Amino acid sequence: MNPRLSALQAYPFERLNALKANLKPATEAAHIALSIGEPKHAPPDFIVEALQDNGLLRQGLGGYPATRGSDELRSAIADWATQRFDLKPDTLTAEQHVLPVNGTREALFSFAQAVLSGSADSVVVMPNPFYQIYEGAALLGGAQPWYVPCPAENGLLPDFDSVPEAVWRRTELLYLCSPGNPTGAVVDLSGLKRLIELADRFDFIIAADECYSEIYFDESQPPAGLLEACAKLGRDDYRRCVVFHSLSKRSNLPGLRSGFVAGDARILAQYYQYRTYHGCAMAGHVQAVSAMAWRDEAHVTANRALYREKFTQVTPVLQQVLDVQIPQAGFYYWPATPTDDETFAQRLFEQCHITVLPGTYLGRQPTAETGGAGPNPGSGRIRMALVASLDECLQAAERIRQLSL
Ligand SMILES: Cc1ncc(COP(=O)(O)O)c(C=O)c1O
Repeated sequence: MNPRLSALQAYPFERLNALKANLKPATEAAHIALSIGEPKHAPPDFIVEALQDNGLLRQGLGGYPATRGSDELRSAIADWATQRFDLKPDTLTAEQHVLPVNGTREALFSFAQAVLSGSADSVVVMPNPFYQIYEGAALLGGAQPWYVPCPAENGLLPDFDSVPEAVWRRTELLYLCSPGNPTGAVVDLSGLKRLIELADRFDFIIAADECYSEIYFDESQPPAGLLEACAKLGRDDYRRCVVFHSLSKRSNLPGLRSGFVAGDARILAQYYQYRTYHGCAMAGHVQAVSAMAWRDEAHVTANRALYREKFTQVTPVLQQVLDVQIPQAGFYYWPATPTDDETFAQRLFEQCHITVLPGTYLGRQPTAETGGAGPNPGSGRIRMALVASLDECLQAAERIRQLSL
């Protein structure tokens, strides 16, 4: 077997299941999961209906799909990204700058396998806490992860100033997660421009995971994106920059497995070659409905309104007992806990029949080789996802409010 497999860590939900294994809720109240980051709003009707079209299905099921994706899908994606991130017309082209992927998870993983050199001292920089795929991708790509803490003092953003120059010199890939999971923090345009400068100076690629970019609360202030920062810099070739987007959160289609990767054409050409061997083309009917989803904004605006309503109603209830804020974007609270996060999660399960994710499971305690000394920045926090219905989220908040903390 590949010896690198043994470096992989248990997934947060395995650790959560173990934590809850012997616990019995002391209440008859129905279970409410605030732990899982799976969107629960209804998928758009027009997509569900389109997927029932026999002609579309016959065509999709009856042929091998192209790894590069259909022209129609790539055009829909290029148009969407150009409009959303205010890109100069015809700089992000359907021909060269866009590839469909089966959700960002597989793409974030496989991208590292394609771009990492395999050299013994290669480093992948990533936020801490983080989406665990970044770490697994780095380890299986033969690189050393370098965990960048996201402390409250830094607005829960990665403290890139803490990364020693010697580490930047070894860096081949930087994973950025903005809006952040679990923090909800957004890197602004100046922060993105600074990272691009670092990428140029030390010659690394930025993989910007922007899969929460469409879940935000002020319609006039959508989160900035890495391609947008390139456009503002006049960097119309998007050199060293690649973004990852998904229909899972934007369009409530996590089961469709549909997203895209876009940016630097030179990198995408090689990643495309990798993907043809990897064998991960998106099914034709999935491509067809994905194009429809990228071309429609009405359902996305309506989706945001649902999250806005939930956060507006739930936040004041929870604020009576926990230090929660409406996040800048995304659908997570990331509050500090009154006791250690695992004990607190156990108490919420036993006394309120509510599952939350201990922050410890989403972060790492770095060693000298992986981030210098320092605590696990996830410890002492929990992640709570407001994905359930408004009614369930309010019930959960009320139960937590009544718990004597
Ligand atoms: C930060 C982050 N990136 C990527 C993903 C993967 O999403 P998908 O593969 O559905 O696009 C998730 C899913 O929860 C996530 O939280």
